[in-house]
Parts: sequence; C-alpha cells; structure tokens
Amino acid sequence: MSSTLIAAERRSADLEQAVRSDPASFRILTGDRPTGPLHIGHYFGTLENRVQLQQLGVELLVLIADYQAITDSPAHLPGDVEGLVADYLAAGIDPGRAVIFAHSQVAELNQLVLPFLSLVSVSELRRNPTVKDEIAAGGGATSALMFTYPVHQAADILFCHANLVPVGRDQLPHVELARTIARRFNDRYAPGAPYFPEPEALMGTAPLLLGLDGRKMGKSRGNAIALGATADETARQIRAAKTDAERRITYEPDRRPEVSNLLRLAAICLDVPPGAVAEEIGDGGASALKRVVSDALNDRLAPIRARRAELAGQRDHLRAVLAQGNARAQEIAGETLRAVKELMHTRY
Ligand code: TRP
Repeated sequence: MSSTLIAAERRSADLEQAVRSDPASFRILTGDRPTGPLHIGHYFGTLENRVQLQQLGVELLVLIADYQAITDSPAHLPGDVEGLVADYLAAGIDPGRAVIFAHSQVAELNQLVLPFLSLVSVSELRRNPTVKDEIAAGGGATSALMFTYPVHQAADILFCHANLVPVGRDQLPHVELARTIARRFNDRYAPGAPYFPEPEALMGTAPLLLGLDGRKMGKSRGNAIALGATADETARQIRAAKTDAERRITYEPDRRPEVSNLLRLAAICLDVPPGAVAEEIGDGGASALKRVVSDALNDRLAPIRARRAELAGQRDHLRAVLAQGNARAQEIAGETLRAVKELMHTRY
C-alpha cells in the first residue's frame, strides 16, 4: 500500500471519530452514477454507512451524477435515475433530512465548472488516474467532458461547501483535486477569508466484497447481486458462484479467495466474524456454504427489498422527492454562484 493511501486511511479513521463526537459540524456530499440498479457492493460498501451518518445527524447531500453517465446509454437515464432514488429511499436515506438531486438539473452548480477549469492545468488532468485510464482505453476519442471529469466532480463537492466526501479508494485523486481547486480559488479570490472549505475523504471501513466469480464486483460484469433482486434470484446467483473443491470450509482469504469472499458476505449480514461462519459450516462443503450465505443475505435485505418493491409502484412520489431535492440543491448552488461572482469581480 502506498504511503499516501495509508495516510488517507489514518486520516479517515480520525474523521470517523470526529463525526461521531460532533456530527453537526459536517456536511457530506456523496454521489453515484446512474448506470442501473445498485448492488450489494454499493449497499455494504457505502449506502449503509451513509444511512448511519444521517442517523447521527450529519447533513447529507446525495448526488445522482447523470452527467457522468450521458455517454453510456442516455435513453435509460430516466428509469435509472428513478431506480436510484428508489434504492436510496429503500436503504433508509430519509428525504425529509437528506437532499437527493440530479447533477444535470442544477444549472448553477455546473456554472462553477468554468472558473474551476481556469484553476487546473491540462497536464494535471492528464495525470489523474481515471482520466489517464480513459485516455489509454479510448485514445484520441476520449471526450473533453471525460477529460475534465475530475473538475466537474470538484464542482459537485464544492458547490454545497461539503467538508466530507465518503468515497472508495479509486476516487481519492478526485477529492484531492477538489481540495486543490478550493485552495487555489481561496488563494486567488479570497485570500483573507477562505471561501471554500477543503473537503476530506471518508473511506468506508467495510471489508471489500468481490463479485460472485471472484473478480471485482460490477454490474456490467454480471457478478453482482442487485439490492432489489428477489430472494429466488439471489439464491440462484449464489448457487452459481465460484468456489473450490475442498469439502471443509475455512476462512483463508489468500489461499481460498472465492470461499472467503462468500464467508465475508455471510459474516457482514450476520454480524459475526467470517471464521465463525466457516466453523459453523465445517465439513458441509460449498452447497452448505451457499445455503448459509443466501439465507443470511436474503434475511438481511428483506425489509429493504419490501420497501423497494413498494416504492417501485410510487413513481410520482420518487419524482417528487427528486424535484424537492433538485430545488434545494438549486437554492444552495445559487447562493454559492452569487458569492463566487462577487469574489471573482464578475457581478455587473
Ligand atoms: N465519480 C463517482 C463514481 O464514479 C460518482 C460521483 C460523481 C461522486 N460526483 C461525485 C462521488 C461527487 C463523490 C462526490 O462513483
């Protein structure tokens, strides 16, 4: 692990403490790309944590990053965005307290992107790991929107003065760039009294779950269980999961990654250590393991799924929640843009 990553994890653990002792001093902005139903990796990796932070009394803004998905399959966007709102509400995000909004609906947020672009160089963007990967994959065809993606993300974070951003490791460079932009903006336009806070990354403490085939979990890889899947679909998917031929079930993440991953999944659901699940199963083999995992996961997700099924039939409600969140985000972004114009001497 790199020293930056170790430092980021240590800082994140301190922040976790700070949030618990003084939740009211934090504003969290987090977001997801609307690329289809959320899966259990999202749920155990971040969604559950967001709900806990919300219960603690931290102010929470949840952004649906539709501008980060417009190049994928735009015709699916309305359905995917609605589905995401349903996933959030089913998981326990409370629209009475949290602000759920779609990036494209907040014009004033997007207007921050131009001034922010002026604070970043082309070579800095080219060095960003996500942008670098995209350029490597797409060559000269990489869009300028993709090229400037970390700058839009900085606008997502800074428009509401968020000081805490729950993210996975892959997103750390983006939070770092948001900090850089905040610093440069403050230095240039608000030297005496910094206007933007420098946001910090909050990395989840949940163990990493792999997909059912032992590779990184992802919807497009077909190895993830959707939060909204039925109990039968879940059981079928788990029955098809990759394991190994050893009869005795043991928790050995390095030697038996697939079996250990299933044990971790059951362990999270049952709130016990993975080794204890393994001992319980003993010589039962892969089929017993899979039964335990299915039952544990289905039991754990049952209330969320029941809520989600109900919400799926309340499309007007989902749209109203989003409209209300959009309106609140527009209000916040409007205030920020006004102040930014003032500071930049562009109010005439
Ligand atoms: N890029 C993030 C992802 O791929 C989604 C996202 C967009 C986001 N804007 C954000 C995450 C702002 C945190 C903060 O998952």
